[in-house]
Parts: sequence; structure tokens; C-alpha cells
Amino acid sequence: MALAHWGGHPWLVLLCACAWGHPKSLDQREDVRNCSVSPPYLPVTAVNTTAQLTALRQQMYTQNLSAYIVPDTDAHMSEYIGEYDQRRAWITGFTGSAGVAVVTMGKASLWTDSRYWTQAERQMDCNWELHKEVGTTPVVTWLLTEIPVGARVGVDPFLFSISMFFPQFLCVSTPARETRPR
Ligand SMILES: *[C@@H]1O[C@H](CO)[C@@H](O)[C@H](O)[C@H]1NC(C)=O
Ligand SMILES: *[C@@H]1O[C@H](CO)[C@@H](O)[C@H](O)[C@H]1NC(C)=O
Ligand SMILES: *[C@@H]1O[C@H](CO)[C@@H](O)[C@H](O)[C@H]1NC(C)=O
Repeated sequence: MALAHWGGHPWLVLLCACAWGHPKSLDQREDVRNCSVSPPYLPVTAVNTTAQLTALRQQMYTQNLSAYIVPDTDAHMSEYIGEYDQRRAWITGFTGSAGVAVVTMGKASLWTDSRYWTQAERQMDCNWELHKEVGTTPVVTWLLTEIPVGARVGVDPFLFSISMFFPQFLCVSTPARETRPR
């Protein structure tokens, strides 16, 4: 009965075949994450960072820190770093050579340049916001809107040189945010 019905309307079969051929909206790329759909779409290359963020936030809570900055370098300020030093890659999932991560109790953000935007959208899960900006200023500006006056920001002092003015910049840019070597 059903067969006869379909047989009588070959155009309907054709229509369905066409629909199956293009099941996805052309807006949606399969290789990058989409955090604006529910549930979020994650490509197979995305890293689930929930456990890493929970572990870091537990430490931040213990140390009474409102934010923690994870830069992309090692203790020698290298651009290309050994696996052991891949702190930023561990916390974000993003393995590009340039990019700074900042974690607060409620948010996790990565700043990287245009070379890496697509890679970041492939590798990061929806715990992370991607900020398409470079340099210290946008990071500090963001941080100052996210944390209260008097809040403490954690950094690893081995990963910041005197000439890298990140922590100092944060201290002077507004009253009384403290940067704590941790
Ligand atoms: C995410 O999905 C929405 C709704 O389908 C779509 O409009 C948007 O373009 C998608 N974004 C990406 C990056 O694929
Ligand atoms: C990510 O891992 C956590 C456990 O660490 C799990 O609860 C959660 O469901 C995972 N999320 C996704 C999207 O797989
Ligand atoms: C934690 O840090 C806040 C500033 O963000 C400070 O006011 C408070 O006294 C600190 N608490 C402890 C237990 O150190």
C-alpha cells in the first residue's frame, strides 16, 4: 500500500533524495565548533576541557584568586615549547604557538591572532570564548571588566619576563588589582 503510494509519486521520492543530499544548513561547517546551537556542536577535534578547568578553579579558590593567566611561553620565553611546558594547550585544547588564556571562576577566554582562529574553533570546546585580538591591552581590558577591584590575579612568575609587562600593566591600570606570583 505504502509502496504503491510512493510509486505513484516519483517526484516525492526525488524530492526526499535531494533533501537527504543536503541535510545540513550551509552555514554550519562540520570542522569547527558551534556554541550558539543547543546542544553545542563540537567537531571530533575539540578537546573537552571541563576537568582541567575544574582542577584549575579549585586551585584558584584555595589561593583566593579571581583570575589566572596562562601565557603561551615557557621559562625561557621560547615561542616553540616542549610538551612538558604546554600549559596553555593543556588548559584550552588549542595547540597553536601563539595565544594567551585567562580563566576566571565563571569564564575561560583565549586571545590569539588570525592565523589561528580556525584552529582554535576546531580544538576548543564551548567552555572557551575566542577573542580575536592580539596584545596585552585587550586581555587586561577584559580582565578589568570581569573581576572586582581588590581581586587577585594569579600568574606563574617564571613565565613572565620583566620586559613582558603583563602583570605590571594590570596592577597600574586600575586601583588595587593585585597580581600574585603563584
Ligand atoms: C551555528 O549555527 C547557527 C544556527 O544553525 C548558524 O546560523 C551559524 O552560522 C552557525 N555558526 C557556525 C560557526 O557554524
Ligand atoms: C566533558 O567531560 C566532563 C567530565 O570531565 C563530562 O561531565 C562532560 O559531559 C563532558 N562534556 C562533553 C561535551 O562531552
Ligand atoms: C581574598 O581576596 C579578597 C580580594 O579579592 C580579599 O578581600 C579577601 O580578604 C581574601 N580572603 C582571604 C581569606 O585571603
